[in-house]
Amino acid sequence: MNIILLGPPGAGKGTQAKRLTEKYHIPQVSTGDMLREALKEGTPLGLEAKKYMEQGGLVPDDVVIGLVKERIQKPDAGNGYMLDGFPRTAGQAQALDKILGDLGQKIDHVVSIEVPNSELLGRLTGRRTCRACGSGFHLMFDPPKKEGICDKCGGELYQRSDDVESTVKSRLETYEAQTKPLIAYYQNQGKLRRINGVGSMNDILSKIQTVLG
Ligand code: AP5
Ligand code: MG
Repeated sequence: MNIILLGPPGAGKGTQAKRLTEKYHIPQVSTGDMLREALKEGTPLGLEAKKYMEQGGLVPDDVVIGLVKERIQKPDAGNGYMLDGFPRTAGQAQALDKILGDLGQKIDHVVSIEVPNSELLGRLTGRRTCRACGSGFHLMFDPPKKEGICDKCGGELYQRSDDVESTVKSRLETYEAQTKPLIAYYQNQGKLRRINGVGSMNDILSKIQTVLG
């Protein structure tokens, strides 16, 4: 099964993708995580991406399209994958359709996780992520048992540099202008499944599982 998780920054794409991966045994393909990894390693790709990410803008289409094209052909994606944070522009969506057509694949479902802006700012500024295993937490909504320490692996929790209020605002504007139009794009393809993303993380997981069948 090939799935796209669509939604604004802070909607819960990564949170739900990690839970769905365990249930469906297909990998999470997060372009944000891949770019942060490249940045950590100091590769030319990471350094190029940094300037866009720090400002809350988008990394150029050809860069992320190349990353995804390579990633979905790895052996662990043989039974499908869950795209988290890709596509984010009309150009990326069209390129994805072309790549999948060439590979004889298709997207089965696009899950749009919908959360009002008023809720997103608090979710993002309170988010903490494990430096070692990538698990996500929230200071209020999903706090770790021990402050600053990952429950799952004992790693150090950190705040993403783009989760400060000023950058969050730019990211939300970028989403409205460039990514939101993809809701209509996938509605026209008959693939869109809308989910109210406000509620407990477990309730949202069940709603997503219901639409995935
Ligand atoms: P990326 O890493 O994809 O960031 P994003 O899209 O802004 O999404 P987030 O990761 O912030 O939100 P999420 O929906 O995953 O929320 P989460 O589950 O963590 O991209 C970062 C940057 O990389 C971009 O700005 C861009 O520059 C670049 N980039 C990436 N992909 C690109 C692409 N395709 N093209 C071009 N550039 C690209 O949840 C957030 C918080 O809320 C957590 O603390 C969580 O615990 C909490 N939470 C989750 N669910 C709930 C709930 N139900 N109730 C209460 N709290 C909740
Ligand atoms: Mg994420």
